[in-house]
Amino acid sequence: MPLRSVIAGVGSALPARRVDNAELAAQVDTSDEWIVERTGIRARYIAGEGETTGTLATDAARRALDNAGLDASQIDLIVLATATPDQTFPATATKVQTALGIPDCIAFDVAAVCSGFLYALTVADAMIRGGGAKNALVIGAETFSRILDWEDRGTCVLFGDGAGAMVLCASDDPDAGILATRLHADGRYNDLLYVDGGPSTTQTVGKLRMKGREVFRHAVTNLAAVLGEVLDAAGLTSADVDWVVPHQANARILDATARKLGLSPDKIVVTVDRHANTSAASVPLAFDVAVRDGRIKRGDLVVLEAMGGGFTWGAAALRY
Ligand code: UT7
Repeated sequence: MPLRSVIAGVGSALPARRVDNAELAAQVDTSDEWIVERTGIRARYIAGEGETTGTLATDAARRALDNAGLDASQIDLIVLATATPDQTFPATATKVQTALGIPDCIAFDVAAVCSGFLYALTVADAMIRGGGAKNALVIGAETFSRILDWEDRGTCVLFGDGAGAMVLCASDDPDAGILATRLHADGRYNDLLYVDGGPSTTQTVGKLRMKGREVFRHAVTNLAAVLGEVLDAAGLTSADVDWVVPHQANARILDATARKLGLSPDKIVVTVDRHANTSAASVPLAFDVAVRDGRIKRGDLVVLEAMGGGFTWGAAALRY
């Protein structure tokens, strides 16, 4: 049995259209000042015609495969985290499989909203360490612009579209790759962040609804706690951490969580300013940005964390 899943490659993709706060303020009763001060967001990317969760996921997956130096035919598992699939079914993961020309592999979607990538990574890591897969594509991809209520200024300014992917490979190296993961869910908080539609209830897709201030409060507490748990599980302390790649919901949540853990803000990868909140895509998208701009290097100890609708939340500690 392999001991670990190592991160062989990373990649990401964004829609062609970038929308800054000034452009939004021309359509919605908001301002650049309010958005920047309350969230740190300056711009987001919005999917256009022909761009879907599936196409963005496929582009990110191709870049991650390139980065890993692997051929798509070597992939035997695709786990795709999304709350905005192309269709209710089939799983968007099977669309990526077909687009990559993989005739046979395991392919399924995971629904844990903004923590979806942490859930997908944990499942893929367990399958690899259990011997059920050798080379996995783990993808977070979303087109939240399509479930936003563009009349609700409290939510529509906060989200964007995008995708990020990692290639995980089985390895016998005891010190590399994913060292520990921790996941949680608490469905008592369903009504603080949800979509008001669905196939089994309204037969509509629905729109995102959020009680932002309450989500914020829970996010800081839960994220600091799960980061502590995952470091304990890996036998590490915050002093060992080179980089934290957090879910990019709000710059103020990132600051508050870092403060609670006594982590320097210089160790936190922040991309919320340019991408806004891309839900399940945000962690792998930020990870890819930080690898490409030279911040995250091979051998670095990196901690990932996210929290979202459900609530669901989780963290992972890895040696890149
Ligand atoms: O990814 C899943 C996890 N999600 C999150 O982590 C989101 C967590 N929550 C947040 O990031 C913040 O709570 C928000 C950014 C959503 C909101 O910031 P806030 O400081 O909690 O503001 P608020 O909702 O309490 O609203 C303050 C004021 C209100 O006006 P009044 O009632 O004080 O007059 C809102 O109507 O700001 C107003 N407001 C806006 N003003 C201009 C709300 N949205 C806007 C807007 N532009 N876009």
